Amino acid sequence: MSIFSQQGNERILNEDALLVSETDEKGTIIFANDDFCKVAGYCIDELIGKPHNIVRHPDMPRAAFKDLWDTVKRGEVWTGYVKNSVQGGTGFYWVYATVFPVMRNGKRHYISCRKKPTVDEIESATALYKTL
Ligand SMILES: Cc1cc2nc3c(=O)[nH]c(=O)nc-3n(C[C@H](O)[C@H](O)[C@H](O)COP(=O)(O)O)c2cc1C
Repeated sequence: MSIFSQQGNERILNEDALLVSETDEKGTIIFANDDFCKVAGYCIDELIGKPHNIVRHPDMPRAAFKDLWDTVKRGEVWTGYVKNSVQGGTGFYWVYATVFPVMRNGKRHYISCRKKPTVDEIESATALYKTL
């Protein structure tokens, strides 16, 4: 069974989908789980070693990612709504992301865990991001 449904160009996550990725301190992807790969439309080998902006959607304001990076670099947890691109620019999907730092063998890494946002949350984020 798929962990998302397709509505036009949008991939809508199922309630039980959990998209996880881990980066090094520069934002290079070092891990992505199956749910992340399937929704983003990549196989794992296409993601490992790539900068995380590989899934960036042009509608996302720079300010959102500045806030994300400023927050996790301070050692804090960032939560927010992110619109990502599907591989090949063929579509998009919204997530509610929780991003936080971890230590791996004395080095700082970052993990993001993503769940399905509600329709209302997507509408609010869309309106807010248009103003940023
Ligand atoms: C753990 C982690 C997960 C991230 N996940 C995403 C993501 O799903 N989508 C995204 O566009 N950027 C994500 N980013 C932010 C990217 O590193 C990058 O800042 C963003 O895509 C903007 O790229 P740009 O500054 O090159 O335009 C993540 C960063 C970290 C540390």
